[in-house]
Amino acid sequence: MAEGKGIEGLIRSALASLGSYSPHKSPDTLKGKVEVPAESIIKLDANENPYGCSPKVKQALASYPNFSVYPDAGQTELRQLLAGYTGIGAENIVAGSGSGDLIDLILRLFVGPGDEVINCPPTFDLYRFETGISNGTLVQVPRDKDFAVDVSAVGAAIGSKTKLIFLSNPNNPTGTLTPREDILKILDSGLAVVVDEAYYEFSGETVLPLFIQYQNLIVLRTFSKWAGLAGLRVGYGIFPPKIADWLLKIKLPYNVNVAALVAVRESLGDIDYLKGRIKAIIDERERLFKELQGLKFLRPLPSRANFILCEVADGEAKKLYQKLQDRGILVRCFDTPHLENFIRISVGKPEHTDALIRTLKQLGEE
Ligand SMILES: Cc1ncc(COP(=O)(O)O)c(C=O)c1O
Repeated sequence: MAEGKGIEGLIRSALASLGSYSPHKSPDTLKGKVEVPAESIIKLDANENPYGCSPKVKQALASYPNFSVYPDAGQTELRQLLAGYTGIGAENIVAGSGSGDLIDLILRLFVGPGDEVINCPPTFDLYRFETGISNGTLVQVPRDKDFAVDVSAVGAAIGSKTKLIFLSNPNNPTGTLTPREDILKILDSGLAVVVDEAYYEFSGETVLPLFIQYQNLIVLRTFSKWAGLAGLRVGYGIFPPKIADWLLKIKLPYNVNVAALVAVRESLGDIDYLKGRIKAIIDERERLFKELQGLKFLRPLPSRANFILCEVADGEAKKLYQKLQDRGILVRCFDTPHLENFIRISVGKPEHTDALIRTLKQLGEE
């Protein structure tokens, strides 16, 4: 045992240099710290669905009789449902406790000490964090000034130890899409290419049609955003069948709970309702964008997802974020070398946009 450190000295030394992953704040933890009651907080910080889930999910869960029985470890019904939704065979599909679970599993499957993972920041921070946990080496290939993936730099970064590349498409937090021809060039490298389509239902763009042709393509999706099920935790990935078999083998046996299965079944049975909500969010995104453009101190970026990234052109993003939080409006703040002085605003209901813009205007006048 390492001298003087007790049980902590037994922790893997590679984790010592791992920075933290900062999840969003739960409104419950802000009770008494903001100027409004916790239930009036407007949560625009985690790209959740402001309309919640389908009412059918709530009804079905209220009368579900079998919470005492473990789920099917092979995910048979769930994979069939997802096959119906995606048009891809069930043998290609594995579900997880959110798509974050699948990011973790993919890294456990492919990456060990010394293996390299290419990441294109600014992007979803879980790719960096989970690579660190799996003892992989992160190779950062920053995006260009317009947040496009630098495809030739990605090519130059590939070496004998490179296993995986992560591409969030649309990218969180920039909301930008990577053109199909760039994704094709990256797929031609033969690496395992993970295209994370967490926001697909908002962008309408998918690489799934490439799946037949490319045996190295992995596509991730989630029910957290479009279906309003972030709290129930269910996502899935589409893999070559042999990789899907491996993931089913190494995952925790019951990684998706029965409530999540019921929720997927009901959501897919109420797809027209959910599509109506998606349309409302996309319409609201465009209105929010125009409103933000009207503010002198912010520079919003056009987005294909359910959030808008804004450069704080006059002032400090951290201060703006804090002032909004004090007034009960939660957004995400970014101030890293790859994204200096930005805030990301999730698209809410029209009344959330109204309250946000009103508050931003007041702050702009202070
Ligand atoms: C790009 C991207 N991928 C994956 C996730 C994880 O989603 P979940 O684990 O809720 O399915 C998120 C969540 O914000 C995301 O932005």
